[in-house]
Amino acid sequence: MEFADVLRQRRMVRHYDDRPVDPAVVERVLSAGLRAPSAGFSQGYALLVLQDEADRARFWQVTETPQETASWPPETRTGVLRAPVIAVALSCKRVYLDRYAQPDKGWTDRDESRWPVPFWHIDTGMVALLMLLQAVDEGLGALFIGMQPDVIPAFRHAFGVPDDHDVVGVVCFGHEAADAPRRDLRSRRRDAAEVIHHGHW
Ligand SMILES: Cc1cc2nc3c(=O)[nH]c(=O)nc-3n(C[C@H](O)[C@H](O)[C@H](O)COP(=O)(O)O)c2cc1C
Repeated sequence: MEFADVLRQRRMVRHYDDRPVDPAVVERVLSAGLRAPSAGFSQGYALLVLQDEADRARFWQVTETPQETASWPPETRTGVLRAPVIAVALSCKRVYLDRYAQPDKGWTDRDESRWPVPFWHIDTGMVALLMLLQAVDEGLGALFIGMQPDVIPAFRHAFGVPDDHDVVGVVCFGHEAADAPRRDLRSRRRDAAEVIHHGHW
């Protein structure tokens, strides 16, 4: 697929069908994330991938809040929960502090005020975006969702996630259902002139 088409076609898909995804394709989507840039090439990110039906059911059981259940129309909720692959994207600040304490960076005090924004979360977001794009290139649909802070302890406990890894978000992917509704966001998309400031704000 042309890159311009991948960009144009990418959108969050919330309705999946039961078709399994070829394991080689799953691997390519996950591996695409590992091409992400990272500050100091720290690569302080990790993916917890759930494909087994029981694991996925457990994931939704521990992470879905009553507010989320209520906020999605029932058919959307069913459509999302059918996604055959769930990849939780996690970031690890410690890896960045260690990397930047090395001689070529020299931040041996590990002072967090040096970081303009948390690069560990940014890099993990880039991992997620590359996976979203690769999914489109593979003819699949994908979705990025957040995880509510109050369910994270139960999520960690259920899947053995270490405390020094933070949940950045969840990428779900699979085959989009043929009858998936299409959202038209064109009228809500901000104008380039409103966002891009040439020369001076
Ligand atoms: C950081 C982030 C968090 C998001 N969280 C959710 C979420 O919790 N639930 C959801 O349905 N969509 C979520 N989305 C998807 C956005 O709603 C979606 O990207 C936006 O409406 C634009 O639609 P599009 O991606 O289909 O172009 C999230 C997207 C991002 C980047």
